Amino acid sequence: MQVHLKVKRYDPEAGDEAPRYSHYSIDVPEYATVLDSLLQVRDYEDGTLALRYSCRSSICGSCALRINGRAYLACKTKALDMMRDGEEIVVEPMGNMPVIKDLVVDMAPFWSKVQQIGPWLQPTGPEPAREFLVSHAAMMDLAKTMNCVWCGACVSDCTVLEVDKSFIAPAALAKAYRFVGDPRDGMSKERLEELSSVAGGIWDCTRCNICVEVCPKDVRPMDRIMQLRELAVEAGITNHTGVRHGDAFARSVRHLGRLDEVRLLPESVGFWNVPRLLGELPGALRMLRAGKLPWSHALLPWRHQIPSIRQVQRLFDSVRRERKGVSR
Ligand code: FES
Repeated sequence: MQVHLKVKRYDPEAGDEAPRYSHYSIDVPEYATVLDSLLQVRDYEDGTLALRYSCRSSICGSCALRINGRAYLACKTKALDMMRDGEEIVVEPMGNMPVIKDLVVDMAPFWSKVQQIGPWLQPTGPEPAREFLVSHAAMMDLAKTMNCVWCGACVSDCTVLEVDKSFIAPAALAKAYRFVGDPRDGMSKERLEELSSVAGGIWDCTRCNICVEVCPKDVRPMDRIMQLRELAVEAGITNHTGVRHGDAFARSVRHLGRLDEVRLLPESVGFWNVPRLLGELPGALRMLRAGKLPWSHALLPWRHQIPSIRQVQRLFDSVRRERKGVSR
């Protein structure tokens, strides 16, 4: 099988001022992975190509990179599956991390965010006389996050991190859940307070779901971030724009059947927060121009409910009943 590769190259130490692409056509067996193909290029076509790998068995997480614009483990991804009608497979380094050379990125920012969440158990109180046994259900819940191999795929494609470098990002936040949710940890409330109040914390995720889609180990980082939010609210940590935003959003949809964009912002940041509201005016004007905020909503104080509002409210009631049933 012939594979065509278009590989992003960049070597600042060699004086490259900007990235460029190299093109390779090679013969590989049908079962070859993208990593196999890149290694064949490096070993037989171009020894200067830099890439990172170790286990070749989707265990170590070293070989994550972008293939056709999405993050994958190269050793877990068949080249055949990535070929679109014989077109080139585009291979690039992970996003949201500085490139050291070609496909090798600097993971230092990634690890500093993991450090930030205190990734170790912090028991409090006297040392237990006997081994602390964790229930099977609790351990099964935590096991999902423990599957993480630190490949960085979720961080590479995180759309929030792309615009806000302070965001702690999916991998570290999923790891934070691993400790908050551990019954042996004594600092869960403090961790939740910190994760709620710090810049780039749990309320900054926009739920785009991309980290769930690209995670090769089904850790589902966004779901873990949502669990952290629920735990924070249950713990009474509610004095946050994110919590108020969620409440205002739900209130608006329940009452009108749609979003009241004009009330959403003041109800989220607080009517008293005049500087913040004024600061958002340019954004509101852009929304108006782009048609994302109807002029009628901006100019008229009253709102009409959608005709099928009862159906929407029945949905809300049914979710509320279900949640009460679950928590009983
Ligand atoms: S080389 Fe270890 S996960 Fe791919």
